[in-house]
Amino acid sequence: MKIINVVGARPNFMKVAPIQRVMEHRHLDVKLVHTGQHYDERMSKLFFIDLQMPQPDVYLNVGSGSHAVQTAKVMVEFEKVLEAEQPDLVLVVGDVNSTIACSLVASKMSIKVAHVEAGLRSFDREMPEEINRILTDSISDYLFVTEQSGIDNLKKEGISPDKIFFVGHVMIDSLVYFLEKAKESDILQKNGLQPHEYALITLHRPSNVDVKENFEKILSAFEQIESDLPIVFPIHPRSRKMIEQFGLSSRVEKMKNLRLMEPQGYLDFMNMMQQARLVMTDSGGIQEETTYLQIPCLTIRENTERPVTVEQGTNILVGTDTNRIVSEARKILAGNGRKGRIPDLWDGKAAERIVDILTRA
Ligand code: UD1
Repeated sequence: MKIINVVGARPNFMKVAPIQRVMEHRHLDVKLVHTGQHYDERMSKLFFIDLQMPQPDVYLNVGSGSHAVQTAKVMVEFEKVLEAEQPDLVLVVGDVNSTIACSLVASKMSIKVAHVEAGLRSFDREMPEEINRILTDSISDYLFVTEQSGIDNLKKEGISPDKIFFVGHVMIDSLVYFLEKAKESDILQKNGLQPHEYALITLHRPSNVDVKENFEKILSAFEQIESDLPIVFPIHPRSRKMIEQFGLSSRVEKMKNLRLMEPQGYLDFMNMMQQARLVMTDSGGIQEETTYLQIPCLTIRENTERPVTVEQGTNILVGTDTNRIVSEARKILAGNGRKGRIPDLWDGKAAERIVDILTRA
């Protein structure tokens, strides 16, 4: 069986790394294709190094663009790869534009599609990722699910149960695999941070950073929280661009206890997350990583496609209301954060299960 694994954007790398490793270890005929959706050294190359991933066999170099332009460019280039390689299976992860683009091309060429992280639903179609998730799931042959809600959602959408496999979470595989190595990072010392005495922030969702009013409400919350403890903010290129565009730079610079930094690599970021007193984010994966690490997480969104993190983990949805963000942060700082439990099958062995299933036939 000939397999193509696809990566495109930052949140894909730590999910494909363990699958690629298991496939290579079992001497499967596998190639890695990078679409180039993310291309900056700090959004891509650093992750290949930290995650010990092989160089991609094919790099499509699509870069940034509107949704249509980016998705279409991936499709045009990926079709050429499939024509040349004639694989039996294309494996995609997550919910980025590269995910839907590559699964659509493969499916129309009658090549089997495996979607890892299937079934997640925010029920918010304003989110580009939600559209990518629904469409990718509807044309996939293997749907690998991370939590019970994924199984429930897929069944409700009429997906045949024999295509659905609850396998746990490959992103947690990477976390488990690299946890000890991440502890060796000196990122805290380099930035003068004390363990458990800072809040870590990430922010990049278009609904938060592309809408000035929302971005300002969130910044107001940070202005209050930074009087309680230092905040570190590794900033996504999209958010940096929007701060400048909205004329918010001087407001951010005035926050003396908030430190902006470049996007961090996998190991340094893990280290910062592990030792944070509190994480505030609008990322999908970080809600899950903090649940695994039992670090309190406030999610700056109205909904989540990962409800297990709220039901069982450390995650609280706070939306973009300034007072809500501040009051929940202060509860955590007062020692009232939840520890939660680690969800079922988040045990570091998801990639093994996936490869077992794919090679069973
Ligand atoms: C994408 C994903 C999102 C994921 C996020 C993680 C989609 C629809 N969105 O959003 O689900 O959570 O990645 O980062 O696929 N840019 C750079 N350098 C890069 C990449 C992007 O400067 O290496 C800038 C460009 O100005 C670009 C903007 O960031 O226009 C947005 O990049 P894009 O890939 O369109 O979406 P993300 O916001 O990164």
